[in-house]
Formats: sequence, C-alpha cells, structure tokens
Amino acid sequence: MKYPPLDNAIYTKNRDRFVKQMVPGSIAIFNSNDELPSNGDALHPFRQNSDLYWLTGIVQEDSMLVLFPGNPDQRFREFLVLTRPNELKEKWDGHRLRREEAMNISGIRQIVWLDSLDGLLQPMIHLAETVYLNTNENDRKNNQVPVRDYRFAAEMRHRYPLHQYRRSAPILKLLRAVKLPGEIAVMQQAIDITQKTFERVLQFVRPGVMEYEIEAEIWHEFIRNRATRPAYNSIIASGNRARVLHYIENNQECKNGELVLMDFGAEYGGYCADLTRTIPVNGRFTPRQKEVYDACLRLHDYAKSILKPGITLLDYTDKVGIEATKEFVKLGLLSRSDVKNQDKDNPAYRKFLYHGISHHLGIDVHDLGTRTEPLQAGMVLTVEPGIYIENEQMGIRIENNVWLTKTGNKDLMAKIPIHADEIEKFMNAKKAKVKS
Ligand code: GLY
Ligand code: MN
Ligand code: MN
Repeated sequence: MKYPPLDNAIYTKNRDRFVKQMVPGSIAIFNSNDELPSNGDALHPFRQNSDLYWLTGIVQEDSMLVLFPGNPDQRFREFLVLTRPNELKEKWDGHRLRREEAMNISGIRQIVWLDSLDGLLQPMIHLAETVYLNTNENDRKNNQVPVRDYRFAAEMRHRYPLHQYRRSAPILKLLRAVKLPGEIAVMQQAIDITQKTFERVLQFVRPGVMEYEIEAEIWHEFIRNRATRPAYNSIIASGNRARVLHYIENNQECKNGELVLMDFGAEYGGYCADLTRTIPVNGRFTPRQKEVYDACLRLHDYAKSILKPGITLLDYTDKVGIEATKEFVKLGLLSRSDVKNQDKDNPAYRKFLYHGISHHLGIDVHDLGTRTEPLQAGMVLTVEPGIYIENEQMGIRIENNVWLTKTGNKDLMAKIPIHADEIEKFMNAKKAKVKS
C-alpha cells in the first residue's frame, strides 16, 4: 500500500454495525478475493474484496474474517485469518502481514493462521444455528466466474447441510452506502488528489496533444500523491469520442476547436473519487460549446439541488429528465412536438442523455446502495448529467461527488474548477513549472 494505514476505528465501527444486524446464534464468514491469473505465470494485480476491506482494511490474498458475537469462547468472537508468513515465498513476493501489523490495521485482537482454521471453525459452526455467507449482489453484476465466495458457499452447504444460511450482501448494501465521517475524510483525500491532477491537466492540454499523454499525466500525478491507482480506466475522449460512455482507447489526437471529455478519479486508501470535466482543447470554448456547456452545468446544479434524503434515485432521475427536456428544447435539440409526442417509457431527452444521473460511490466506483429506496443522510453519490449531440459530434459531461447531509448535500468537489470561465482562466494562466 502506498498510503499510510487509515484510522482502524473505521473498520471497528463497520464490524459493530454489521454485528448489530446479525440474528442471534449466527456466525458470519467473509473471504478475500482470489488472485486472478492473466496469462503464462502472471497474475492480475491483487484487488481485495470490497466487503472484506470495509470490515478489516486488510489488503492481502487468502485472508478471511469470522464474526461470531455469541461465541461462548469470548476470545473468538471476531478473528482475522491470514496466510502464515513463509520466508522463502517472501523472497519472491515480498512481505506478508505479521500478527501485530494486522492487528494495527484492522483493530482485530485475534489473528489465526489459515492452516489452523479448519480445526478451529469446526466446533464453532456446530454452536451456531445460522451461517451468513457473502456473494457480490451488485445490481449490474451477473457473475459467471466461480470465484472464491461462491466456491466457499458451495463447500459450506456441502459440509453443513442442516444449518440455516443467510445472505450478508443485503446487510452490507444498506450499511456500506451510509458512510462514516472517517470514510468521508478518506474519500476527500482521493478527491483532493484528483483535483490536483485536474489542475495539472488543465495546464497540459493544448492542440496536438494525444489522449494517452493526458492519461499519462493523470497516472503520474496520482501515484506521486500516494493514490493506489486510478479508481477505474480513465476516459480521455476528445471530439466525437466523448459520446462513447466507456471510451478508454485514449489513442487520438486532441484537435484545435474540439472539446475533450475527461472522466477520471484517484483511488486512495481503498476509496474512489469520480470526476468528469469537459474542456476546450485550445483553452477557449466556442459560443455553441459554451451554450451547451452552460446548459449541462445548469442541469448539474439542478440535480444537486434536489439530491437529498427522502428522494429515490428513480424519482430523482425522472425530475432531472424533465429539466433536461426543457434545456434540450432551448438548445434546439428537441422541438415542442418531439416532447408532446414522446413515449413516456423512453422520453425524448434520452436521445441526448442516455445514462443515469447519479450512482453511489465508495470503495467501489459504482458502490453498493439502493435505487428504489429513499436516499439517506451519509450516502455519497455522483452527480453527472451529460449532453451528447451526434449531429454536432460533441459530448459534454460534468461530474462531482456529493455527501448527503440531513437536509441536502455537501459537494466534496466544490473546490474543483467547474464554470466555463474558471476553466478558461486556468488553461490560459501562465504555465506553472510542472514538476516532472
Ligand atoms: N467513471 C464511471 C462513471 O462515471 O460512472
Ligand atoms: Mn465518472
Ligand atoms: Mn460516475
């Protein structure tokens, strides 16, 4: 990890919150992710299971967490399972956590080596009526790969067929969506790194620059500020590419007179930032670009103004859609008759804005959280309307991250330049000496 350990009170509180939701006489078991093969003898970089990270802060393969709040043996009401350090393996793959280090990171007092888990767990399972197991229940995920959680669940059901089994995922979905102040502080660090990076990029972009050169500037500024990596593949989409939502080739030249849409965010301390800005390659918006940009910014501000506890994401999206329709009429994209004759299930505005306006954000960039239940204070969401115009070969999106308060929200990206004139000013300011 490039970042210093976070305050382990975050994980201790998260475990308390989970335990409070468990039924009496139950045990919950969580697994790390698999190390995933790529080709030959190579592995993809290890990515911890988000739920295990939220509960422990541990980023190491083959780790597990067991929560058994009713265990008559008080020493094992919560314990962390880690692979036993192996000196020879460490000569190849580097240091693995010792007990003391793992205790400091997670706040868990009891550490068990993986090779002794089986004998320890057997009697415990017999003392419990119910076993909580976990799978990835993200709404967008249709899991086809038999990853560790699924293999573990099948094995448990095979070995202990008469137990009750419950899903941890619905509990985690509710809990992880509402962030603790300590988590917000970490997210703010991810956002501050992203801000610094955006300001660097504003001074870097000029006609003739390649999209991948901008991507390289982003990596550079992220890593030197202790981000672990980009939170997702950066989208650097100049000209007409901006209409492709997941454009990640980033291999074209940014041309004079075009806009460049940049959607990127740092991952710091296990949490994501998710920023989008659209800027003029030559440092000046044309009148039409500014007209569309300002319409997108008004939509962004409107969306932010209604994103508060009590509203559901579904209702919120409908409301922003009504506002988008008005803006698109003003921009000459929709006629009054387009609106009058529109299909209510596929409103006319969706031709120019064909994605959601907000998603939950946290350890995952598309974080756990409900779309259908009312939003609650403590949730962090993006606000990201866009306008994509095929005839004009133009795409604009403006994305910030907000934290819901009791009565509204706090924009965690409030300090990042967003108005057209601020962006122009930054781009045309005397170039700061960019540190290499
Ligand atoms: N960068 C991914 C998203 O905005 O949802
Ligand atoms: Mn984004
Ligand atoms: Mn987003």
